[in-house]
Amino acid sequence: MSNLVAVIMAAGKGTRMKSKLPKVMHSLAGKTLIEHVLDMVEQVGVERPLVIVGHGRECIEACINKRAEIVVQTEQLGTGHAVMQAMPYFEDDQTILVLSGDQPLLKAETLDALVKLHQEQGASATVLTAYLDQPFGYGRIIKDGEDLVKIVEEKDASSDERKIKEVNSGTYCFKGSALRETLTKITTQNAQGEYYLTEVFDILLKRKEKILTYCTVNSHEAFGINSRGQLAEAEKIVRTRILEHWMAEGVTIVDPASTFIDADVELEQDVTILPFTRLSGKTRIEEDAVIGPQTSLENCIVGRGSEVFNSVARDAMIGERCHIGPFSYLRPGTKLGAEVKVGDFVEIKNSWIETGAKVPHLSYIGDTHVGKSANIGAGTITCNYDGLKKHPTKIGDHAFIGSNTNLVAPLEVGEYAVTGAGSTITKNVPAKALAVERNHQVIRENWHREKI
Ligand code: UD1
Ligand code: CA
Repeated sequence: MSNLVAVIMAAGKGTRMKSKLPKVMHSLAGKTLIEHVLDMVEQVGVERPLVIVGHGRECIEACINKRAEIVVQTEQLGTGHAVMQAMPYFEDDQTILVLSGDQPLLKAETLDALVKLHQEQGASATVLTAYLDQPFGYGRIIKDGEDLVKIVEEKDASSDERKIKEVNSGTYCFKGSALRETLTKITTQNAQGEYYLTEVFDILLKRKEKILTYCTVNSHEAFGINSRGQLAEAEKIVRTRILEHWMAEGVTIVDPASTFIDADVELEQDVTILPFTRLSGKTRIEEDAVIGPQTSLENCIVGRGSEVFNSVARDAMIGERCHIGPFSYLRPGTKLGAEVKVGDFVEIKNSWIETGAKVPHLSYIGDTHVGKSANIGAGTITCNYDGLKKHPTKIGDHAFIGSNTNLVAPLEVGEYAVTGAGSTITKNVPAKALAVERNHQVIRENWHREKI
């Protein structure tokens, strides 16, 4: 959309959150509130929105990482004062879309419709409104028929005004010139002693300028987050939206009530998600994979047709047709080829397990490269840490590591090599060799004595 400038207000502390973090840095479905707002603004075609920051500005700046122009509001004197800081950044003939960083549930299509209405009707200002059953805390929209009379804050409202259920969503469009001329005239004469952005409407109305209201179809969209309770409510709404989206895209979610999927997760057709499963961060699950029950994956890729059952994985890549679980733990840097099996009570960290290899039971594999079709026996431990440094292990293709082997790194076991069960291997094993490190078994005949 041309000639559109977006201003996102995010300088407030969010006192009602009672948090060390600035409010817009709280997380919703795996993404900060400010990132949700940036996403929707980008979707309506604004490339570089202005973000007004103050409290916790360093961490907000680090999070939004060049996606926006940062404008600092050193003292937080109210929403009107916040937008004043943006004045040098817009022109009189531009449309200014103003949003709050604490309103992550708005949809891009609603913003699009708001901007279109505002521009097509040539309005000086348009406010996005919503009907809420519980409007407490929001500014109320006072109308005479269809015409806006004023926007009144909860704290300034009369008891009759408080009964009104149409609220100010905190999202607006302004003609640049109208905003510039009125922002300089607003005062702090109100219950909170702040510069309210909403006072701009009083001035514009007195000047008989064209003001419009545009009501959202879906009242959830106006939902603003001021407290942890509201954050949890928003989470519920976003979660349902995400689950419904993926089901509509051809994913089976057996029990939506116990399934948690973050906003940036990607799922392909015919994926099945079983109950009590959480997919977070930038996880991607490819076609026909079955995940769960009771599985938690963060920033993982799971290949086509793989099964991950009762397991936990983070920053791991799982190839096609793998079988993971139950009770596997894949830690950062794990990369599994196709048709790999990782079974119960196996922990893998920073390791590459190639196609067809198996680690079926009770093992720790760290800083290791396991070759194709190698078999790692139950209870195998790579002793990768000497107390000071981590060391690598390399296991060749088709190697067979006997049960309960300790592989003391740095170590290489060649292709087709075998280690005897119970061995502690400290020296490299050549290809095709057998390495056994064990005392000879002693037999004492008739050792058993009857109790007297
Ligand atoms: C505001 C509106 C209210 C509306 C509600 C919708 C005003 C006066 N009131 O109230 O009518 O119903 O949003 O959610 O505008 N901010 C700054 N600098 C400041 C003050 C605030 O950047 O000096 C930012 C905050 O960080 C926040 C946003 O502006 O992201 C809104 O501020 P907040 O204090 O949450 O306003 P509300 O009381 O919710
Ligand atoms: Ca708010």
